[in-house]
Amino acid sequence: MADKSKVLEYSKNNFPNYQAILQDFVKIPSISTDPNHKTDMIKAVEFLRDQFLSRGITKAEIIETKGHPVLYAERKATFHNAPTVLIYGHYDVQPVDPIDLWKTDPFEATEIAERLYGRGASDMKGQIIASLAAFDSISKSDDIPINFKFIIEGEEEIGSPNLPLFLEDHKDLLTCDVILNPDAGMISPNTPTIVYGLRGLAYFEVIITGPSQDLHSGMFGGVVHNPAIVLSELISGMHDEDWKVTLPGFYDDVVSLSEEEREQLSRLPISEDDIKRQTGVPMLFGEANFSPIERLGARPTLDINGMLSGFTGEGSKTIIPSSAMAKISMRTVPNQDPEKIYQQLKTYIEKNIPPTVTWEIKKHAGGWASISDINHPGVIALSDALEEVWGTKPFYKREGGSIPVVAAMQKILGKDSVLTGFGLPEDKIHSPNESLHLPTWRKGILALINFFYTYAELS
Ligand code: BES
Ligand code: MN
Repeated sequence: MADKSKVLEYSKNNFPNYQAILQDFVKIPSISTDPNHKTDMIKAVEFLRDQFLSRGITKAEIIETKGHPVLYAERKATFHNAPTVLIYGHYDVQPVDPIDLWKTDPFEATEIAERLYGRGASDMKGQIIASLAAFDSISKSDDIPINFKFIIEGEEEIGSPNLPLFLEDHKDLLTCDVILNPDAGMISPNTPTIVYGLRGLAYFEVIITGPSQDLHSGMFGGVVHNPAIVLSELISGMHDEDWKVTLPGFYDDVVSLSEEEREQLSRLPISEDDIKRQTGVPMLFGEANFSPIERLGARPTLDINGMLSGFTGEGSKTIIPSSAMAKISMRTVPNQDPEKIYQQLKTYIEKNIPPTVTWEIKKHAGGWASISDINHPGVIALSDALEEVWGTKPFYKREGGSIPVVAAMQKILGKDSVLTGFGLPEDKIHSPNESLHLPTWRKGILALINFFYTYAELS
């Protein structure tokens, strides 16, 4: 077995190089949802392939899908019967709007006060480069203790619509003992975290149409039903006074929390004040009889992600808009089927829509929630690896965000993912001024190195 301490030392000496790679990567605006960035998506995946190939990877292939391509890379262990770890990542990022609120160019990668600012710095280009850095450091020694496989997709931020088919088609290529997914985050810089649950997502667009064009609101107000008002009323009826979602059957398949799990979640070091500080709100809200941590990780929710109707420019204009649109999404918990949620939304609208307008629902991609086994050897190795760096045992958390591929991999590859990551709640992922806390990220690289050695020993 190679001298791990030498590998860790090598890695520390190379932190500036790894950060330089990350900065070059962040500079590529790989926004998967925006067709105008299609060539940037190619640039990003080719950049990654070239980085992997110049850092000890022996095989790296860009594989086409119906959407954005996938990067597959591997390097074999230096001895027989070594375990195989499949490392997942996504090279795509969310859009940057509202751009005016950014204090630095989102695709410049600017370091200010120990943070690297830029879209994707935390979610999750930083996490991909941390994994590459850990691999690079290990591959510089003579002994490589595990078989490394990487699968880096370009569509996570749009719900991984083409990844299930990719997994089906490449099952043999992707055989492994465990999947490492560093796309989740940490509770705080001093609290290493293992995520064992993720929520799913069901995402829709509801369009209400009234008159065939915008109308004078004086000439027609009072006789033509306003689509913006119809949509607002539909939306406000989607919750009751306990902030429960009213879609018919919404809670039918929800697995309820055991007392034991509630007890465990209540011990997580996350307070209401922490959440208020992270978000800037004066007070929290949510479903009655559940704690904030339960509501975030283990209860389903419904949100409006965006709305559009009528005149929104400067000044005033007196019209009845011709249509109104809302992007509506539900975060789901294990056992809730996104397809059933679609039916429930449809039934709700059918029941409540007035005959004065027409309506339509468009489906966007989403995915199932997941729960991973916390007794898996991969989880135990990760726990040891994190403890070695942070000097404290990790907390086990259910995350409110979604990574649909985790459930897809359980189903198609039959493997659980071990979820961690070195992003923090204050990183502002998906928001203006996203950034990565560099000291935590550097610790993360060392923890990943530990993980690979420890997992090889344990298995
Ligand atoms: N990395 C996030 C998910 C996440 C966020 C995990 C916070 C842990 C903590 C991921 O990139 C993401 O944002 N996923 C999308 C998926 C969706 C588009 C299907 C999400 O949750 O909105
Ligand atoms: Mn994301």
